[in-house]
Amino acid sequence: MTSSARKLFVTTALPYANGNFHIGHIMEYIQADIWVRYQRMQGHAVNFVGADDTHGAPIMIAAEKAGKTPQQFVADIAAGRKQYLDGFHISFDNWHSTDAPENHDLARQIYRDLRDRADGSLIEVRTIEQFFDPEKNMFLPDRYIKGECPKCHAKDQYGDNCEVCGSVYAPTDLINPFSALSGAKPELKNSEHFFFKLSDPRCVEFLEKWTQDGKLQPEVANKIKEWFTVRTNPDGTQSEGLGDWDISRDAPYFGIEIPDAPGKYFYVWLDAPVGYLASLKNWFDKGGPKAKHGDTRSFDEYMAAADTEQYHFIGKDIVTFHTLFWPAMLHFSGRKTPNNVFVHGFLTVNNGEKMSKSRGTGLDPLKYLSLGMNAEWLRYYLATKLSARNEDIDFNAEDFMARVNSDLIGKYVNIASRCVTLLQKNFNGEVGTVDLSAIELQASPTDHPVVLTDQRISAQWLGKLVTHYYEQREYGRAIRLIMAFADEVNRYIANEKPWDLAKPAGDRDRLHQVLSNSLNAFAAITRCLAPVLPATAQSVSKLFGENNDIAQNVLHVCLQPGERIGAYQHLMQRVTPEQLEALFEAPAQAEQAPAATETIAAPGGEELAPTITIDDFTKIDLRIALIVNCEAVEGSTKLLRLTLDVGEGRTRNVFSGIASAYKPEDLIGKHTVMVANLAPRKMKFGVSEGMVLAASHGDEKANPGIYVLNPWPGATPGMRVR
Ligand code: 2FM
Ligand code: ZN
Repeated sequence: MTSSARKLFVTTALPYANGNFHIGHIMEYIQADIWVRYQRMQGHAVNFVGADDTHGAPIMIAAEKAGKTPQQFVADIAAGRKQYLDGFHISFDNWHSTDAPENHDLARQIYRDLRDRADGSLIEVRTIEQFFDPEKNMFLPDRYIKGECPKCHAKDQYGDNCEVCGSVYAPTDLINPFSALSGAKPELKNSEHFFFKLSDPRCVEFLEKWTQDGKLQPEVANKIKEWFTVRTNPDGTQSEGLGDWDISRDAPYFGIEIPDAPGKYFYVWLDAPVGYLASLKNWFDKGGPKAKHGDTRSFDEYMAAADTEQYHFIGKDIVTFHTLFWPAMLHFSGRKTPNNVFVHGFLTVNNGEKMSKSRGTGLDPLKYLSLGMNAEWLRYYLATKLSARNEDIDFNAEDFMARVNSDLIGKYVNIASRCVTLLQKNFNGEVGTVDLSAIELQASPTDHPVVLTDQRISAQWLGKLVTHYYEQREYGRAIRLIMAFADEVNRYIANEKPWDLAKPAGDRDRLHQVLSNSLNAFAAITRCLAPVLPATAQSVSKLFGENNDIAQNVLHVCLQPGERIGAYQHLMQRVTPEQLEALFEAPAQAEQAPAATETIAAPGGEELAPTITIDDFTKIDLRIALIVNCEAVEGSTKLLRLTLDVGEGRTRNVFSGIASAYKPEDLIGKHTVMVANLAPRKMKFGVSEGMVLAASHGDEKANPGIYVLNPWPGATPGMRVR
């Protein structure tokens, strides 16, 4: 590490440890990883860390449903992370957990520092009234309370807002509230909660400065400005200025116990960002920075140093936590605050096409890799779309194929495949003198604001300009400049026709010059693309000899005469339509196309049953049932155990063979239809007190898929279906 090297501490948002990575996570990691790799290429000392965000009620409840301890549950999720991170070349230095001892210690210390401030505590204890589930013996988070909307009277709405009329309210406003966990009627109970006094004038003054001093993206800073004047309360009313932040939750809660407050835990969002520090501390304690950068300081020394720069890459949905709560926590606990928070928009897939559960998650990153699709295609495609602005971007399958095939294969790889073999054949792979002025791109400030006046850009200049764009996170601009230069190189090759110069009557000196100029340009482009295409840059480095480790070099190095280039090996395949088709193919059970053999005589693959009378039908008592709980059945891959409320003042236990089609958590809180007067049946796993109605095709093999009936909104438990 040279003394001029910047010391950068970089993070991405910590993912909840209750599911696999989705494409949105991967996009954020790719955005941050490109920046990190670019900084490393500049010789800067980067510590790039991540961790799992492990705490909170949803994870605790998911673990319970899975029959695991929360610790085991999050450990199992953590074990699945590596395949994604390695697969997409995300170069984290360390991956840790917010449940690790470092995080417990740091979160508790930060809290004590806020509480024990000499100029007056910023923590206040207040009694609040909250819903309590008497069956589960726990306070209920808003999303686990359901009931009737107080405004439009739609049934089965969440505790914080109505999905039918859109109104916002407090859980206590719900009519006939019930616990989504047990179905029980929740009781209002008092509880002491701990608040971080963000409304304190010290905090307000500090945060107004911190958020409005010009470092944040303008669109982000403008949005934040509104929060200082008006805020929306849980009941939908509005108040002036910043509100205090409720940072505690009552036991049982999977989290970190608050010092001197037995049974009280930090709300997950208090300890989550502390996880950034915990992961970095763990990396320091393991000796990572010493081995990597020769940095022998302790974690505390590093964090206190004036020249340590701290950056967080996050999505637009978690700006409040990172630009208000987190800097305030750090500042008022006597710590340095982040240098910046880089906010990105959401990623939509195929023009924002809404992806239903049964169609999967749109673009499953693991499926992408398992189909043998090149991670660098995705890195490149996303880079072409990413800028420093907080705006949504779209993954469009056709655009993806066109961009990758035309840019990476048609423009970039094409240069090497045209020139390397000719250099091998004619000059034993040896580079001649390079004339940088032979290939220059005419660039203007209109196309590239980084260019001050109309300018001709050589291979050497290209790196300098691209550097600027990477620093600013203007990846799309960097790529456009690089590809414009690649076009220029291809034009040069087309004009010079080295394949003609290589003929017996051709000009050998000129051939050597043309190949050397072109391959020097190719090397320059590779250096520029290395943060985006790290694996390809490595392959090119090998081709260009051990001394030319392109990924390690700074962005503006020139090939030297006499350097040897190895035998050409194919650098990258094209994207095929078949791959994209397979990527977006619906999972097997979601196939809904009718079987080709189906006829009107056998709708749904099955002959109609013999006719019955209305009296026969009324013997079957069909009722609306609320699925108050649903869980997997140990020892059975087919069955789910449903706890149903049919309005009888008790719940029923029903087994249903729908495990192949539904995740238990997707059914909880939904209404369905059941046969309520079916004689109880003793099954291997217990007694089933009824039957849930579901549709399926007569030929299950050809047309798999099970569809549980779901009534229109408004039907309530116990209503008869006739
Ligand atoms: O929104 C989320 O997915 C959170 N798990 C992000 C946490 S970021 C940081 F604070 F840990
Ligand atoms: Zn409503």
